[in-house]
Amino acid sequence: MSSNLKGLVLAGGAGTRLRPITHTSAKQLVPVANKPVLFYGLEALRDAGIRQVGIITGDTGDEIREAVGDGSALGLEVTFIPQSAPLGLAHAVLTAEDFLGDDPFVMYLGDNLLRDGITALVEEFRASGPDATILLQKVPDPGSYGVAVLDGDRVVSLEEKPAHPQSDLALVGVYMFTPSIVAAAKAIQPSARGELEITDAIQHLIGAGMRVEAHVVTGWWKDTGRVEDMLEANRLVLDVIEPRVDGEVIDSDIEGRVIIEAGARLVRSHVRGPAIIGSGAVVEDSYIGPYSSISSDCVVRHAEIEHSILLERVHVEDLDARVEGSLIGRDVTISRTDAKPRAYRFVLGDSSVIGLT
Ligand code: DAU
Repeated sequence: MSSNLKGLVLAGGAGTRLRPITHTSAKQLVPVANKPVLFYGLEALRDAGIRQVGIITGDTGDEIREAVGDGSALGLEVTFIPQSAPLGLAHAVLTAEDFLGDDPFVMYLGDNLLRDGITALVEEFRASGPDATILLQKVPDPGSYGVAVLDGDRVVSLEEKPAHPQSDLALVGVYMFTPSIVAAAKAIQPSARGELEITDAIQHLIGAGMRVEAHVVTGWWKDTGRVEDMLEANRLVLDVIEPRVDGEVIDSDIEGRVIIEAGARLVRSHVRGPAIIGSGAVVEDSYIGPYSSISSDCVVRHAEIEHSILLERVHVEDLDARVEGSLIGRDVTISRTDAKPRAYRFVLGDSSVIGLT
């Protein structure tokens, strides 16, 4: 096989299930342990020895471009490939046809996270030379994913989000392809939901007698498309961070795995890890509990936060109850005022969710 294995990262799409965060910004840039989800995928490709990466972008293309730059900081050569509309994963492959040329490639969905990376799987793909390799994992709710039916190691059939799944093996959002997938994507028709499905394109390869291999991924895998998955991914990543304290810590206690970035300030507070506090953040008279990611330039005063992700510049001040299981978008302020009459005062974007105790 050609040694010039490329990467194709999908960072377009709509992000409907992460609204309101994704009304204004890309779902692939929501941070997990203070690093955009997308960067974990880019690093996994780099670690597998891939250098040339195409990134499919949609409406949020400008923001993705700004975050990734030319890719050199990540050790990659990045080409941005705008997709006209989110018309499906196989449509994204067709959109990238010129970039891909005749090279094999790893397609990585920009909202997916795999604990063990993909290096070993990519090496095996390079060595054994199938027409395509798919990754699978057993899940309790296969109907939310593409689902594969196997006969031994052989893939018999694939179905996208079936109402009646024939197995509990979900398709992980990382695929290894030869250029044969481009011809397959051209041969299929849009699905009932109006998308050109990659599952249908792979099924087409199988129908044409091509060799499609499957690997069951054993380390954890997360599709961060929903809020609860995002929080779970945050939990899984924080569980293995290397603790370090580079920021300022005054009259405060730190327990467990905690990162305090340079430029962060912790005053009269208690942080129980795993947790991360970003640069420029100020935490005063507060408790930051396990599985919390506090992004840069946040302010937390007289408040308690646990199992939550705060994006950049969030202010949380003077709360009676603990903030838990929350994903809070950039520049949000949650605070108490003494203004009368005593009442809740909200300025909320579309699709916001508030849970009051
Ligand atoms: O995460 C694994 C699942 O990903 C698989 O099990 C499914 O078979 C596969 O179809 C996909 O399902 P999702 O519903 O999660 O796909 P989503 O629409 O979230 O798109 C995945 C990524 O690709 C996301 O980062 C957005 C991007 N995308 C999506 C579409 C439809 C594009 O860049 N262009 C597109 O046209």
